Amino acid sequence: MTPDHPASPGSPISNVKLAPSILSADFSRLGEQVAEATEAGADYIHLDVMDGRFVPNLTFGPVVISGLKSYTHLPLDAHLMIVEPERRIQDFIDAGVDHITVHAEACAHLHSVLSQIREGGCRAGVALNPTTPISAIEEALPFLDIVLILTVNPGFGGQAHIPEVLDKARRLRALTAERGLATEIEVDGGINALTAPAAVRAGADTLVAGSAVFNSRETVAEAMAKLRGSLAA
Ligand code: DX5
Ligand code: ZN
Repeated sequence: MTPDHPASPGSPISNVKLAPSILSADFSRLGEQVAEATEAGADYIHLDVMDGRFVPNLTFGPVVISGLKSYTHLPLDAHLMIVEPERRIQDFIDAGVDHITVHAEACAHLHSVLSQIREGGCRAGVALNPTTPISAIEEALPFLDIVLILTVNPGFGGQAHIPEVLDKARRLRALTAERGLATEIEVDGGINALTAPAAVRAGADTLVAGSAVFNSRETVAEAMAKLRGSLAA
């Protein structure tokens, strides 16, 4: 599959991609919720895979993901919060995901994992927990397509955004620009209409949002419009 072109570094507000995380969706009707997010103008569907070891929570795996494919044409953006991700990459490739993001903290051989992902035809990403420094992945930058910056401690939706982490996004944006890399920067955690503008100003090309999109207060369409609207201002 041909990887789509990441947004240009420091995307203008209007180019920012939105990737709803289904972690906060209604799991009794996951396919419908994916279709609603697709119709509401999402750019990716963000899939939070958790194994109960790398993070305390346990969510879903390749079987569920392959069942969601028929509900959307959008790229499936898999965020693997699992130990030993190298053992699972092929399962997610076979399930039909488009992006596979592994945690730097879970990989002893990051170049090898990234190569495995790309050889499988997917875009390769690395995620950083809030206090994991950019230096942990600096040498990996030429071998990846996406850096996912966690602005919450991974494991659950609905947590408070940690704004101090945005400085990491700013420094990463400067580093990739300096090296002429088209690395896509995703910011993930506590993103809503209040926090989204600062995340974009810090350099995010793509915003992941779970509880701001899937909640009992409003429809997915209303929530997506509110989030998109916060970036138009
Ligand atoms: C947390 C996940 C996030 C989370 C975002 O471990 O990686 O993608 O679902 O949810 P909100 O937007 O509610 O913080
Ligand atoms: Zn995530």
